[in-house]
Amino acid sequence: MTSTVAQEASLQKTIANSNANVGKRYALRCKACHTLNKGGANRLGPNLWGIVGRKQASTKGVKYSKAFKGLKSNWSLTELDKFLANPRKYAPGNRMAFAGVRKASQRYGLIAYLATLTDAPPSTAKAKQSTRIAARPDGPSLADELKLPNGSGRETVAAICSACHSLKIVQQQGLDKSRWDELMDWMTEKQGMPALSNPDRKKVVNYLASNYGPQSRSRRINPMSPMMPRMPLPKSPK
Ligand code: HEC
Ligand code: HEC
Repeated sequence: MTSTVAQEASLQKTIANSNANVGKRYALRCKACHTLNKGGANRLGPNLWGIVGRKQASTKGVKYSKAFKGLKSNWSLTELDKFLANPRKYAPGNRMAFAGVRKASQRYGLIAYLATLTDAPPSTAKAKQSTRIAARPDGPSLADELKLPNGSGRETVAAICSACHSLKIVQQQGLDKSRWDELMDWMTEKQGMPALSNPDRKKVVNYLASNYGPQSRSRRINPMSPMMPRMPLPKSPK
């Protein structure tokens, strides 16, 4: 067994060599529930500025779950790594409805990025990460990566709708505008999606209806094909 200290040191090395810029893009998913900027508000989850090294469940004004209140360590790289790999297993019963980042290289990039969210990066590793982000031109956005069609609301759909499940589930629906609008409420009330306020919500509904409306199915899928059964529609919200 490696000691905690040795584990942390080795992880620090790995993370210093990871691509924080990829992590920055990955972190768009976190923005469904967290702000990342200094002084940002708490949303469904706490603001993540300065998260590396912070005491667990210590942000004022956040109603943590019981599972979280029981956490007594700091968010070292080791603890963040374990948590982000499998949030549910790390603190059973916690309220973070996020599947986790199973791919190690992706997770290290994400943690490398989180480590830059501080005024005074204490280690050279962190300082290097900041310059690395600054030095690289921005790559493709999350929506580009997910190959979403153009249109207003595209980046919001990419970030929010891929936080908890694959976008395939969204793309297969083929709902009209009013059903997409109802689905927003259902996702918020039943599935824990952060409520979108206008103008974001309108943009998202319009984007979904014009790209994944009823017409999108008949255009791409032969409705008579026995190989392509219609997805069941979500039950209307109660
Ligand atoms: C669907 C909403 C949601 C998403 C998406 C989400 N989180 Fe969270 N997160 C939460 C909630 C809610 C909590 C508080 C959990 C609790 O109290 O049980 C939390 C807690 C945390 C904490 C612990 C904070 C503390 O004060 O101890 C970290 C770290 C964290 N999230 C990181 C992330 C990162 C990184 C991502 C993106 C990869 C992410 N989260 C995506 C909702 C979310
Ligand atoms: C906080 C997590 C979360 C977020 C964010 C989220 N969803 Fe979901 N979504 C779920 C869960 C949980 C289910 C139910 C999963 C299942 O049945 O496999 C679901 C199911 C769905 C379904 C399938 C409904 C059905 O009955 O088959 C659609 C469509 C959907 N979501 C669309 C969206 C859209 C569009 C967004 C972005 C605006 C979004 N979701 C954001 C958690 C989320």
